[in-house]
Amino acid sequence: RPARDSRPGPHSPFVVAHRGASEAEPEHTLIAYERAIEEGADALECDVRLTADGHLVCVHDRRVNRTSNGRGAVSSMELSDLAALDFGSWKGQAADAELPDRDAASVLTLERLLELVADAGRPVSLAIETKHPTRWAGQVEDRLLTLLRRFGLAGGPSAPDEPAPVRIMSFSARSLHRVRAAAPGLPTVYLTQFLSPRLRDGRLPAGVSIAGPSVRIVRNHPGFVARLHRAGHRVHVWTVNEPADVDLCVRLGVEAIITNRPKQVLSQLGRT
Ligand code: G3P
Ligand code: CA
Repeated sequence: RPARDSRPGPHSPFVVAHRGASEAEPEHTLIAYERAIEEGADALECDVRLTADGHLVCVHDRRVNRTSNGRGAVSSMELSDLAALDFGSWKGQAADAELPDRDAASVLTLERLLELVADAGRPVSLAIETKHPTRWAGQVEDRLLTLLRRFGLAGGPSAPDEPAPVRIMSFSARSLHRVRAAAPGLPTVYLTQFLSPRLRDGRLPAGVSIAGPSVRIVRNHPGFVARLHRAGHRVHVWTVNEPADVDLCVRLGVEAIITNRPKQVLSQLGRT
């Protein structure tokens, strides 16, 4: 079995809040991440995209239509355009409801998220996913690493047995390659929702040490996790929301569970 990566205990997977505590709160907002930290999540997952004026913002979709009151592609908008939008009210609130704190529901920059983590008062790590890296020919990775260096987070774990403060995840092997070339210490996670023959054999892209399969793959191919472990890889599974899937992940010994429900998962793991 691989060395301990991010496990808070020998049999307990690391709990990663997917887009923040995103079942309860609007995803990728400060509100959702503050809640995940309060609930005890070990790590926060976020997707990053580049604005037209070169800022990294935490937004999942290519367009803002689903999660804000605006329309259009993130890449064609400047940060000030995004900052004028409301990223909170779409989730179960009346359109005219007054939010308690407008800033907390506005677009979240990665820089602000890094500040939040730095001020969390306890170790909270980040799982940052690069979106659309090929279109931007490395700009997302460049900006990301520049920002991480500024926060002293581009070097990887402080000791081999320590959890990594930041992991970079992507469905794009090319994006992970760019990250490793520029910051070899940063652990990378290769996300996948399909099993290629190479993956089925437990082979990841060169240099990647962590597999990030969807929970559907893990459910349908339970032997896959054991194969990855035998190959010396760690396994971080997404998006694990159902109690039966949490149980399955624990039985299979996965190293991290990425979930929209950090509180419920921590409680199921007996950690609250
Ligand atoms: O944590 C990995 C997971 O977030 C990948 O899928 O579409 O939610 O970004 P998606
Ligand atoms: Ca993601």
